Amino acid sequence: MGRSNVGKSSLINSLVRQPVARTSSTPGKTRLANVYRVARGAGTPFYLVDLPGYGFARGGSDDFQAITRAFFGQDRLDLAAILIVDSRHPGLRSDSAAWRWLHSTVDLSAVVATKIDKLARGQRIRALRELESVFDAPVAPVSAVTGEGLDELWKLMDRLANNRSPRSSSPRRATGPRHQKK
Ligand code: GTP
Ligand code: MG
Repeated sequence: MGRSNVGKSSLINSLVRQPVARTSSTPGKTRLANVYRVARGAGTPFYLVDLPGYGFARGGSDDFQAITRAFFGQDRLDLAAILIVDSRHPGLRSDSAAWRWLHSTVDLSAVVATKIDKLARGQRIRALRELESVFDAPVAPVSAVTGEGLDELWKLMDRLANNRSPRSSSPRRATGPRHQKK
């Protein structure tokens, strides 16, 4: 998830190297939760969900609120979230608010800074340092245009997909001591 026009759909297209998601230079393009099943080699298959962005007044925010709340409200899913931010705009209030909300709602979350191709080397280092301080978390730099950082993003998603959330493991713990390791 992330602000409208930050490049969420473009990032999905670059990750899978196919134009599966619709993108636009104007905000508010993605209006529904678009779900993609990702199966790669021996990795655990998972669903990648492209959500509408926030911060776009004409309809976009409403779509975002309703769809995002409905989506993350589903207790039975093993959910992980990636917040996508624009590497050129560290510290936006809407991004900080989204990160706080994600933290309180989803067990596994990470931050990715996109459009890194738009920054020169020195600016990148400064922007990443600032972003990591704002979010108090590691921030992975990527570009949907140049493909930079996509390998690392795949690894991050594999880690999130393989990490079982406490919520999903609690029913197994409740089945009793016979499942405990000796
Ligand atoms: P919504 O669906 O409206 O929430 O937007 P989105 O976050 O899905 O953004 P989208 O992928 O549609 O991209 C928005 C614009 O940013 C498009 O013009 C893209 O070409 C551009 N863009 C996306 N990623 C990058 C990037 O890594 N680098 C550069 N230079 N441009 C990008
Ligand atoms: Mg989109």
